[in-house]
Amino acid sequence: MKNVTATAHPNIALVKYWGKRDTALNLPAVGSLSITLDTLETTTRVEFDDTLDVDRLELDGVTGGAGESRVSACLDLLRDIAGADTRARVVSSNNFPTGAGLASSASGFAALVVAADAALDLGLPPARLSELARRGSGSAARSIFGGFVEMHHGRRTDGADCIAEPLLPASEWPLAVTVGIVSKAAKAVGSTDGMELTRETSPYYSAWVDNAETDLQAARSALDTRDFEKLADVSEHSCLKMHALAMSANPGLMYWQAPTVAGINRVRALRRAGHAVFFTIDAGPQLKVVSLPGELPAVRDALTTIDGLQEIVHTGLGEGARVVAGS
Ligand code: DP6
Repeated sequence: MKNVTATAHPNIALVKYWGKRDTALNLPAVGSLSITLDTLETTTRVEFDDTLDVDRLELDGVTGGAGESRVSACLDLLRDIAGADTRARVVSSNNFPTGAGLASSASGFAALVVAADAALDLGLPPARLSELARRGSGSAARSIFGGFVEMHHGRRTDGADCIAEPLLPASEWPLAVTVGIVSKAAKAVGSTDGMELTRETSPYYSAWVDNAETDLQAARSALDTRDFEKLADVSEHSCLKMHALAMSANPGLMYWQAPTVAGINRVRALRRAGHAVFFTIDAGPQLKVVSLPGELPAVRDALTTIDGLQEIVHTGLGEGARVVAGS
């Protein structure tokens, strides 16, 4: 049996996905738009092995764990397509903190699907890989592709049109990303549970869904004209709306910590002073600052003096998920 290793990068959403229209098939209620990063990466080896009774996951050196059944369910989809029932050994590692709002599930499921597709000799097209990655984690559908990527919420009940598509390669608008790591601990409420709680309890949920298309249009148009200010406006607005929505769940979800808020204020001050920067935050406390590459020294200066910020990581825009080794 084949043994294939794939790598994938996390992505960060500029127009956010929060809420599902179908939990069983993991269909998002809203479209989203993201950038795929480089530097941060997940590397995953998948080896189908006739001697195994069950799928085995080793993540960052720890075997089993909560992710094993999600990984197995995702592999079932690929086995179904291949008409195979052999179980697999999956060894995966992240070069960044797992489950802490750095999109490890996005890069994780994208790498898994790409490695398993190759190990099973399926050769599925990228759109199909995106659909399968979405079943593992909605944001993973976007990490199949590099650069700027749009995820469609789709209309079909079977989710076949609920896939990501690349909008612009990284080289066409090579923005810089600075990640301010506030905490390396796994978050208390993960995205899946958090968005379900929000859908069930927030009085603002329908307004969020109704407004998503407006933000997507603005972001697409900012990309077309490489209008940084416009992208900054829509991205910060989408981020703040998503967090306000999460806070309005009952009980409210609060992903920020003090250094996250300090970071927002520093980035806003930079913007007011004319720098081409904006912030975004996913379901965790980490602050992500998107900028033109020439702004990196200013961003670093603004973040280094924030009390409690643990680490600053500079990265850029990267490629989609790909096979890196196989035999
Ligand atoms: C805040 O893709 O992790 O990062 O589909 O339940 O696995 P599941 O959720 P996930 O949610 C990502 C939420 C977000 C925003 C985004 O990436 O669009």
